[in-house]
Formats: sequence, structure tokens, C-alpha cells
Amino acid sequence: MRKPYIAGNWKMNLTPSEGAKLAKELVSELKGVDVKVMIAPSFVCLPAVIAAVKGSNIIVAAQNVSDKESGAYTGEVSCQMLKDIGVNDVIIGHSERRTYYGETDEWINKKVLFALSQGMNIDLCIGETLKQRQSGELEQVLSRQIKVGLEGVAASDMSRITFAYEPVWAIGTGMTATADDADNAHAYIRKLIGSLYGKDVAENAIIQYGGSVKPSNAKELLARENIDGALIGGASLTAEKFVPIVKCALE
Ligand code: 13P
Repeated sequence: MRKPYIAGNWKMNLTPSEGAKLAKELVSELKGVDVKVMIAPSFVCLPAVIAAVKGSNIIVAAQNVSDKESGAYTGEVSCQMLKDIGVNDVIIGHSERRTYYGETDEWINKKVLFALSQGMNIDLCIGETLKQRQSGELEQVLSRQIKVGLEGVAASDMSRITFAYEPVWAIGTGMTATADDADNAHAYIRKLIGSLYGKDVAENAIIQYGGSVKPSNAKELLARENIDGALIGGASLTAEKFVPIVKCALE
């Protein structure tokens, strides 16, 4: 039985004080709710948000991390820095990092391997563009992102990787993949994980859906067999929208 996992990617939104306020609201409104919950604020918000969720089960993750240990890499943040402030989880390979900052599957793979070597848990994002979907390349794209992204990852580390299927055309556009589209893509991802790591790893893999998830569509998506959770952008920025989505995962 896979435990539902709902995550909020705050992207480049909320100041540290706004983030701390939202985190406190989430702590109080999600008390006793048995769903794995993660929030990923910007780097500068992390200390304030960590302080705000102290004593709760809410996981605080980073949105990105360097593939290097330390050194002359201006503007980068290392695993060691994150771990030092109590962050053990990180989103890697978000489509916005791929599209706007040139992250390739090979680079993402380096980040994955290094973060795993540092004991971190990873939320690995994958997903196709509209053009790729329309030209029938969905499976080819997902296969490449997964195979290259996971190159060299041992089966024993797979329990530390969550997958987030985020079709690029559904992110921030209001266009959600239908529950059937999403479930089919998730089933394909699970099959692929099975071919690489075997049935047990595939059965236990948590695959989140991301792309315009909101309180009104979360229930239908989360009810699908292969959809184990969600990675939410816009609707994670207020407790009013995020909390009902988390609660959908209980049903
Ligand atoms: P939206 O929920 O705003 O579409 O963003 C999804 C996403 O990119 C989460 O990482």
C-alpha cells in the first residue's frame, strides 16, 4: 500500500515572513491528518519555514540543489548547506529548471547521484511538452528522462526517490491532464521503473501528478490507481487551497 504524498512547490513566491505565516497555518490545519506532506519554499525562506513547522510532520524541501560538493560555483547551494539547516529533501529536474535554466537529463542525473550520496531524498520531476505529446513522443520522452535521470542509481536507493509526472503543458496553465491521461502516463512510468528495477521497486514507487492541481480536480486525480500524490504549484500558496487537496488524499 503506497502512502499518499502531497507536496507544495512554492516556486519563486512568498517572502520568508509570508512563508512562515503559511507554514504555521498548515501546521495547525493539518494536525492529525495522516498524509505525507512536503512544502518547498525558496532557499531564503527555508530557515523561517523550518522554524514554523517544528514539531509537526511537514517535510520542508529545497527546490533545487547543486551537483557539486563545494567550491567556486557562484549562486549555487550545496547538499551540505541544506542538511546543516535540517533540509533532507529536494526537488530535482523541475521543468522550469529544464526550460529556463538549461538543465539536461545528464545534469539532472549528476544532481540525483550526488544528492543520494549525501543521504537526501529526491522528488524527481519528469514530463513532456505539448509538442512532444502531440507528435506521439510521450513514452520516448519519459523513457529518456527516467533512464538517463536514474543512470547509476542502485535499487536500494530507489525508496528515496519520488517521481513527479508534470506534463509541461499543464503547469500553471489551468489545463489539467485528464485523470485518464495522467493515470496512463503514471502506469507507463511504473512499468518503466519495473523494467529497470523489478516489480517490487515499481509497486512501491510513489508517483505524484503535477499540473494545475486544485481542490476541484484533486479528488478525481488522486482516486486513480497509479496516482499516489500531487506536486502542486499555484494552489500550494494558500492554506485555503492546499489543505483541502491534502485532505482529498485521505478519501
Ligand atoms: P501548478 O500547480 O501551478 O500548475 O504547478 C505545478 C508545478 O509545476 C509543481 O511543481
